[in-house]
Amino acid sequence: MNLLTIITDKMVAGGDCIGKNDGKIIFVPDALPGEKLDIYITGQKRDYQYGRIAGIVEPAPERVEPPCPFYGRCGGCNLQIAGYGFQIELKRMIVEDAFSRAGFRKFQELPPVTVIAGEPWEYRSRFQFHRFLSPGGKGVTGLKARGAEAGTVSSGEPLRENIVPVTDCPVAVRQIREFLRSDTFPGAKAGRFTVFAGDTVRGEDGRDIVLESNTSPICEVKLLGRKIRFDVRGFFQSNLPLMEQMITAVCDGLEGERVADLYSGAGVFALFLQERFAKTVLVEQNRDALGWAEINLAGRKHTSYGMSCRQWVLRPEAAEKFSAVVMDPPRSGLEAEVCRWLCGLGGTELRYVSCNPVTLARDAVKLAAGGFTLRELKLLDFYPQTSHIECLAIFGRDR
Ligand SMILES: C[S@@+](CC[C@H](N)C(=O)[O-])C[C@H]1O[C@@H](n2cnc3c(N)ncnc32)[C@H](O)[C@@H]1O
Repeated sequence: MNLLTIITDKMVAGGDCIGKNDGKIIFVPDALPGEKLDIYITGQKRDYQYGRIAGIVEPAPERVEPPCPFYGRCGGCNLQIAGYGFQIELKRMIVEDAFSRAGFRKFQELPPVTVIAGEPWEYRSRFQFHRFLSPGGKGVTGLKARGAEAGTVSSGEPLRENIVPVTDCPVAVRQIREFLRSDTFPGAKAGRFTVFAGDTVRGEDGRDIVLESNTSPICEVKLLGRKIRFDVRGFFQSNLPLMEQMITAVCDGLEGERVADLYSGAGVFALFLQERFAKTVLVEQNRDALGWAEINLAGRKHTSYGMSCRQWVLRPEAAEKFSAVVMDPPRSGLEAEVCRWLCGLGGTELRYVSCNPVTLARDAVKLAAGGFTLRELKLLDFYPQTSHIECLAIFGRDR
């Protein structure tokens, strides 16, 4: 095995640091900027390579020993090698870098990236675990291993050797840690299952943990005093205290005649927005999620559309005047048609929630070119110890 010695440069979206070998970029996981590392090459593409650390020659001063015994094997966390304050700094730099690379500064200076953070441990309410039964019938619960994406069987389940048995998880909420330690849930079947838990969570059996495979998957959470119901198998943000802060930040200062909640999921933002607007419109293509939105907004004034936002912006209803638009798209960002529709709106306030700074920056350039000003850019640290980045971008029009 040939070892190379490199000095790492910045961290990029996804959490790898980049370095150079013979002019080619190398992506290295578990590295911090400015480290001298011995690495070996694990993958080759035409213009870049992947490497893995064989030895740390000169560590960054911010490097710490990962507290979790499963770090590096489990696919869950990839930033435990940095102290929490530095994790935030790295994420802030990744966001700024994404906007620079997208060419945003041609339109305006980037406003300072402000940070909203909560507890760095014991925060995560939602997990997909994988369970297998030994020939003796004993159940083992685990998480997908690092890099296990390729090693799946036709059902989409990871191969057994790609599951890391876990008996604890320090980022999980107390209820899930207790579940992992005792693992005494009756009736849990082999295969993949989702768990949702937390102090303000209630399953139909009244417990504060909902386990997909042995109880009803229906879950109720309280956010800012409001009850919201959803199916644990669908999307729901898994850091509930940060979600409350996100709702407050999204709704802050908004009011008016008509608001649209695009990519609305189970209607969390719409539930709080409808108190501030005469008319609230939800658009969501997943009919199951929209069904929950209907339940969550029952008796409250709203109209919902079960279709893609791309289709909805072409409908006559989209030609009405909107005082504000809130949007929370998947990682791929806004559809091109949605960006065009937004740019055609007049004095509208935009609140764009994003789980991918690269597509957020791409869309921010289109919105800036369409006359919107990025007024605030907030990093909400929903997933400490991981490189996941969640942002809220607030746009308005100055002219
Ligand atoms: C990141 S989630 C946001 C959900 C919601 N705002 C929340 O916080 O619970 C993105 C949502 O967009 C929906 N979605 C994905 N592509 C869509 C599209 N093209 N049009 C409408 N909805 C879409 C997904 O089903 C999912 O519910």
